[in-house]
Amino acid sequence: MLDTVQPSLAALPPVESDSLLALIALCNADPRPEKIDVGVGVYRDAVGNTPILRSVKKAEKLLWERQRSKGYLGSRGDVRFAQLLRPIVLGRHADDARIDTLQTPGGCGAVRLGLQLIAAANPAARVLIGTPTWPNHPPMAEGCGLEVVRYPFYDADRRVVRFDAMIAALETARPGDVALLHGCCHNPTGADLDPQQWHTVTRIVAERGLFPLIDLAYQGLGRGLDEDAEGARGILDACDEAIIAQSCDKNFGMYRDRVGTLFVKTADRDSTAKAMAHVLQMAREMWSMPPDHGAATVRTVLDDEALAADWRAELATMRERINTVRAEIARADPRLAYIAGQYGMFSMLPLTLEQVRALRDQHAIYMADSGRFNVVGMSDDALPRFIAAVIEAMDG
Ligand code: LMR
Repeated sequence: MLDTVQPSLAALPPVESDSLLALIALCNADPRPEKIDVGVGVYRDAVGNTPILRSVKKAEKLLWERQRSKGYLGSRGDVRFAQLLRPIVLGRHADDARIDTLQTPGGCGAVRLGLQLIAAANPAARVLIGTPTWPNHPPMAEGCGLEVVRYPFYDADRRVVRFDAMIAALETARPGDVALLHGCCHNPTGADLDPQQWHTVTRIVAERGLFPLIDLAYQGLGRGLDEDAEGARGILDACDEAIIAQSCDKNFGMYRDRVGTLFVKTADRDSTAKAMAHVLQMAREMWSMPPDHGAATVRTVLDDEALAADWRAELATMRERINTVRAEIARADPRLAYIAGQYGMFSMLPLTLEQVRALRDQHAIYMADSGRFNVVGMSDDALPRFIAAVIEAMDG
């Protein structure tokens, strides 16, 4: 008889479920027809639908007609797709041969792969993350074996970026530490760095030899495609090494199709080729090949001038709706005025956990425990009720 205890899956510790996934499940289970789901970050139009974009639908039809095979494409995925995204994401850096790309399952796949690449090159790197952040950022970094260093990013009382705290964190970081930056439409606060702040952050990152990893999940939903990528492009101007994790899930409305891209830049083409060889091996180990349909659809949109123009128009419509709803909420109460000055799908409401829970119990309004809500989570009809309930909750 062995006197040691046989290892068993039963010995696994309990896992605290991801707060956003738990919220989706809670909301789905609520039978009240009037429920308002401002939890997860999914765009909804004036009547509360998450539509498939016109350009995407047409591209899917073309794809259905033209696609002759579903044979494997390889770990890089759809190469043309990634190539077509270069000018959109990289702008003036699109032709930089030191930047290589591959298709990933969503922006999340790209962030994970980027962190894993950094961990392989420098296991001692620490990942500096401003809080609050997307709840999946810290566990992804830790899952790659990297230490996470948190710093306060947002002043929830004054509703502004705690820029001094951010700078202090970056200035005391060690060379090689990772600066994980939200490219635009900060999740969960909506509080983006302004151009001057980007300039300062970029200078410190470059001067201190930090490794910039930019999560660009909402490009085009804040100020515009180019404007939203300017922070990332400025980093590329200043830094020899950088990683951008990009997502088309939101700006093409293809959430469940998981469409993302990883951009890797090093100081020279040989080093980029070596880094990409590692990335491809890691992708091979994790998912072997990325799912094709979403990327093939985006490629079909971007390869067709008329469809690409229509996509840009549809993206502008989504962005304008976000900003119109922001303005409407901001007008309703001086305590909510800050919402008009923020960007993207999310802002945080000045509510306690008890108030958030009361909104859920009494009004069937579902938002994250942090008070993060999706500005375009509800229909126009539901908006007045949402605003009234939030004001009631704030009044206590
Ligand atoms: C969100 O923050 O709501 C989205 O990024 C969806 C997700 O995967 O969490």
